[in-house]
Parts: sequence; structure tokens; C-alpha cells
Amino acid sequence: MEAADFTRAMARVPGPVTVVTTVDAAGTRSGFTASSFSSVSLDPPLVLVCLDRAASTHPAFAAADRFLVNVLAEGQEAIALRFAASGIDRFAAGDLKPCEAGMPGLPDACARVACTLHALVEAGDHSILVGRVEQAHTRDRPPLVHCDHAFSRPVPVARPDEELLSALHLTEW
Ligand SMILES: Cc1cc2nc3c(=O)[nH]c(=O)nc-3n(C[C@H](O)[C@H](O)[C@H](O)COP(=O)(O)O)c2cc1C
Repeated sequence: MEAADFTRAMARVPGPVTVVTTVDAAGTRSGFTASSFSSVSLDPPLVLVCLDRAASTHPAFAAADRFLVNVLAEGQEAIALRFAASGIDRFAAGDLKPCEAGMPGLPDACARVACTLHALVEAGDHSILVGRVEQAHTRDRPPLVHCDHAFSRPVPVARPDEELLSALHLTEW
């Protein structure tokens, strides 16, 4: 299997755009843009995000006992790019404020999910940060989506017929 085939296929998978942050005991903030954010478990409430083991932020997150996932909203593309850029102060713009447990958060994010670290799982060249959700906060804004190397926003299709949903026992989805 060619690596390019793998990356091309995965680029077709739409993902959320998040900025994952933490702060250490000395007050040093760390953060990176991630599309690999996903729900894992409802009981207990667990989520995951994958972090490149070669990333400059990896040591900070591997040592952290908590992290905050900021789910970006439409219009926050520049923030996504800034938190993916190397060799800059990603916090210099001052738009992240102390939020849940004092971690850097975006007041206008369409969701924030504050976690304690449940497990750190090594998986190839990435680490999987599994977080136990301690607090979750949402705002009524359309989320930003990343697909095919572009940012976009979801366009809802018509809701399926209620009778069909009922026949399929899909009343909650
Ligand atoms: C839309 C987007 C999604 C990304 N998703 C991830 C991700 O899920 N995991 C990850 O480790 N890096 C991801 N990155 C790359 C990181 O944000 C960052 O660029 C990388 O960790 C290199 O940063 P460094 O200079 O701190 O080493 C993504 C970048 C972009 C633009």
C-alpha cells in the first residue's frame, strides 16, 4: 500500500477542526490544531485525539493531566491555521482565554470539551490522548469541517421521513 493512497483516502473523510490546549503548573500554554477528535464512550464519557509523536507539543501533552478540546466554528479558519503553524507563538493573538480548569479556551468555539487524561496510548507515529470528559459546553454556531484539504461547513440534508425513522427504531440519532 502506498502512503499517498492512504493519505488521499483519509483526506476524503470529513473531520472536525479543533484546537486542543493545556497549561502546565508554571502557566506555560500549549496547543495544536487537530482533526482527529472523536467520541469514544458514553459511560464513562471518553473522547480521543491523536497527536504526532514528533510534534513540538507532544512532550507537554504527554505530561499533562488534563486537556481542553475547542471545536472550531465557521469563521475560525485562521485560528486553525495558526495552531498548526510551526515556530510561532500560537497564543500571541490573545484570543484564547482561561476557560475550564484554567485551560486556554475560545469563548466563541462551537463546543468545548474539558478532559482529564484517562490514557495515553502509543499507536504508530502518533499518541492517542484518551480523555475523560469533565465538562462540556456548546454554543449555537455551525462547526467548521475539514475535508479534501479544505475547510467547509456542513449543509444539512432533509430529515428522513418520521415513519421510516420510527420503523427503524431510529428515534434518537
Ligand atoms: C486541519 C488540520 C488538522 C490537523 N490535525 C492533526 C491531528 O489530528 N493530529 C496531529 O498531531 N496534528 C494535526 N495537525 C497538525 C498540527 O496542527 C501541527 O501542525 C503539527 O503538530 C506540527 O506542529 P509543531 O510545529 O508543533 O511540531 C493538523 C493540522 C491541520 C491544519
